Amino acid sequence: MADFSGPLPGAEPDSAALIAARPHLTMDAEKGLMLEGVALAEIAADLGSPVWVYGADTIRTRLAALRAALTKAGLGGTDIHYAVKANDHLAILAVLAAAGAGADVVSGGELARARHAGIPAAHIVYSGVGKSFRDLTLAVSEGIGQVNVESREELAMLSAVAVAAGRQVDLVLRVNPDVDAKTHAKITTGLAENKFGIAWAEVESVYAYAGSLPGLNPVGLAMHIGSQIVSTEPFDTAFARMAGMVARLRAAGHTISRLDCGGGIGISYEAGTGVSLDDYAGVMAKHLGGLGLHLMMEPGRWLVGPAGVLLSSVIIAKKTGNRDFVVLDAAMNDLVRPAMYDAWHGIVPVAAAVAAGPQAPVDIVGPVCETGDTFAKDRLMPALGPDALVAILDAGAYGAVMSSTYNARPFAAAALVDGDRWTTITPRQQVTELWSRETVPAWLTETAGETG
Ligand code: LLP
Repeated sequence: MADFSGPLPGAEPDSAALIAARPHLTMDAEKGLMLEGVALAEIAADLGSPVWVYGADTIRTRLAALRAALTKAGLGGTDIHYAVKANDHLAILAVLAAAGAGADVVSGGELARARHAGIPAAHIVYSGVGKSFRDLTLAVSEGIGQVNVESREELAMLSAVAVAAGRQVDLVLRVNPDVDAKTHAKITTGLAENKFGIAWAEVESVYAYAGSLPGLNPVGLAMHIGSQIVSTEPFDTAFARMAGMVARLRAAGHTISRLDCGGGIGISYEAGTGVSLDDYAGVMAKHLGGLGLHLMMEPGRWLVGPAGVLLSSVIIAKKTGNRDFVVLDAAMNDLVRPAMYDAWHGIVPVAAAVAAGPQAPVDIVGPVCETGDTFAKDRLMPALGPDALVAILDAGAYGAVMSSTYNARPFAAAALVDGDRWTTITPRQQVTELWSRETVPAWLTETAGETG
């Protein structure tokens, strides 16, 4: 099973290679690392660190590239529903909404966010293994475009919700094609043993059951086999199986008009190019193009991952035994991916003069009291003294959304760059906000005299 452990120490791309592979990043001799037209040092000077910075134009460009690849493959009508879970900031949703993307949501909270950001309910699909009665009621009353149903039990619940609301709900069945996505075990979803989707052998009977329930309008199928998939092979296998299932269901007299291909297109966290969109669209067209289906997809990471960085400053550089450590002011509570999945993220000094210095291996860690709070081990880096600013790359997806306030560390600030302008989109959380919703029961603070 592949994992995220990245290139071998010594074979890692250096700063120049990481920047060269990312068209939205440049190193200016004087201003240092730039995201689109803005010097990252300027944002850190203003907002402090750690701070997330996202590039709006980078996101638009990536969405346009995805659309262009689909169109080139003859799949120009494919609906793109951005997977909100990758980055649910209202500003990111607004960028995508303005560019015409819909949304794929996994909870009532994400649905509310997507609606608040201006995405029409009809352009939202709701996927997820555990949709509550309350969240389904919200989705149906909003007029959601499609529910991706994951079980027989959920069909019964959705039917009850639809009948109570007096509505007819379009749904697709999320089926489990039992394909190994060859990605990290914690983010693979399309294996028979995973909790997601309807088992392959049961699809026909569950589809017939869906058609028998009041308020439900089964219109097709959905799949999602995992995330950070870096080869087209698992998609090739899964799309072929889905085409076979479409044929079987049609032969049994069912109407299958939609197919939702899910998300999962991987990016290169290193200096490569990631999955070729032309290849991805090619396998989609090969298996699904000629079937008269309305195709849909739910990309998250591919659209926003490379468009974000986490800026962090060095607190201290220290030697312990024979190891050199650089302790940053960002930690696993901000970006958990390295601790949780052994994910490899490029780390680039922001100042050009620092980036050009002689390199030596260091461990780059955060200040949280966990050994797992490590961003990089034995990473070849130039000397990084106190206050040196670094950018942790490709942090736009599954970054801020997975943050916590562990160790009483307030949520970081966030900024949005758009060409050569930028603005704050989330102020840094104040320490007092950490306990602003907590109360201490009165009896704990009453004096001994009062309690008798
Ligand atoms: N659709 C469904 C039903 C999903 O479950 C997901 C992601 C997506 C779409 C979007 O997948 P993407 O295109 O972003 O790969 N926290 C992990 C990733 C978890 C992905 C969960 N599902 C990480 O940091 O790598």
